[in-house]
Amino acid sequence: MTIVPVELGARSYDIRIEDGLLDRAMEVLGPFMGRGRMIVVTDETVAKLQFPRLKTVADEAGIAVFPIVLPAGEATKNWSQLEMLTDQLLQLGVERGDHIVALGGGVIGDLAGFAAAIVKRGCGFVQIPTTLLAQVDSSVGGKTAINSRAGKNLVGAFHQPGFVLIDPSVLDTLPPRELRAGYAEIVKYGLIDDRYFFQWCEAHGAELLGGDRAAQIEAIRHSVAAKARIVGEDETERSGRRALLNLGHTFGHALEAETGFSDALLHGEAVAAGISLAFRYSARRGLCAEADAERVAAHFADTGLPHGLSSAGVQADGARLVEHMSHDKKMEGGTLPFLLARGIGETFLARDVDLDDVAVFLDAAD
Ligand code: NAD
Ligand code: GLY
Repeated sequence: MTIVPVELGARSYDIRIEDGLLDRAMEVLGPFMGRGRMIVVTDETVAKLQFPRLKTVADEAGIAVFPIVLPAGEATKNWSQLEMLTDQLLQLGVERGDHIVALGGGVIGDLAGFAAAIVKRGCGFVQIPTTLLAQVDSSVGGKTAINSRAGKNLVGAFHQPGFVLIDPSVLDTLPPRELRAGYAEIVKYGLIDDRYFFQWCEAHGAELLGGDRAAQIEAIRHSVAAKARIVGEDETERSGRRALLNLGHTFGHALEAETGFSDALLHGEAVAAGISLAFRYSARRGLCAEADAERVAAHFADTGLPHGLSSAGVQADGARLVEHMSHDKKMEGGTLPFLLARGIGETFLARDVDLDDVAVFLDAAD
């Protein structure tokens, strides 16, 4: 088993990664299920495909399982599902010392984590991520949230899990498109500050997406170690270090807004297109070599991911996309910090980006 620690003082926890770990989950879950019972929050799809594995081992260990099954999809991260979930948790008599199990993708992790943050002013939770995106990003670092009428992830809290259990075998039931979307977040870690890892992605990305377990485990291990390091340096995104994890997200957010945060463009797909645009914009400003921007876009294209506006299915003009950006929660006193790059593995936070210039760039981008 690979163990990656997340060092956060009193809120430290381990990420445990092993093929087939879900079928031995009680080895790691046991100490967190003090009252002989387990409350599992999951979605309808994961309830059919992966929950039975967890239920089997809990039954064998004599642990009573209380599943709470929510609809699958982004729309579930809303106020009414949060209300229903917290009501059910309270009906089940959840106590502050309990650990709710979040079994699912980023939607379940974010929603169950936020419920855990507010029920009884905060109870424990553990993450068992079942999408690649959740395994390499959302299950680690304690960002929890729901969406509001004003936008995505605008109501939430930092609330760290008690541990994260990652079993790559759950990826066998994940649709290939979801696997690719999660892969974009893996590539992101190389582009932020680790060009050797980007080279690794170029060499092994296709194997990973083809289901090669060793490649998946190596990429997950490397990604969560990178995320743990960055979160350990800046847990609540105050110093600007954690903001690096948002590479591609400002351009990507505009594309997601334009496509209505729908299945037309998955979050990870928007991130791939957004990263490609951030690199092209950096090259246009003379910050990074044109060849680096082309190399990044080529890797996303090679792995079947969007790498610009048209491949993301977006036709809007620059002014409209910039208008979406201006609603970004990262706005600071009327300006928007952007993640730009001086090269592959050399991302930095730029606070001098003129949104009119971005609009001109997007008008000419494809
Ligand atoms: P998701 O949770 O909606 O999962 C995608 C789809 O895959 C769903 O239909 C789900 O039912 C299905 N699924 C999950 N596991 C499966 C499996 N093993 N087999 C078959 N189907 C499976 O989406 P996601 O991409 O995992 O997460 C996206 C969410 O994560 C967004 O809401 C985003 O805001 C959030 N996010 C949060 C953070 C964070 O730091 N908290 C970081 C990145 C993204
Ligand atoms: N996914 C961005 C973060 O966790 O900060």
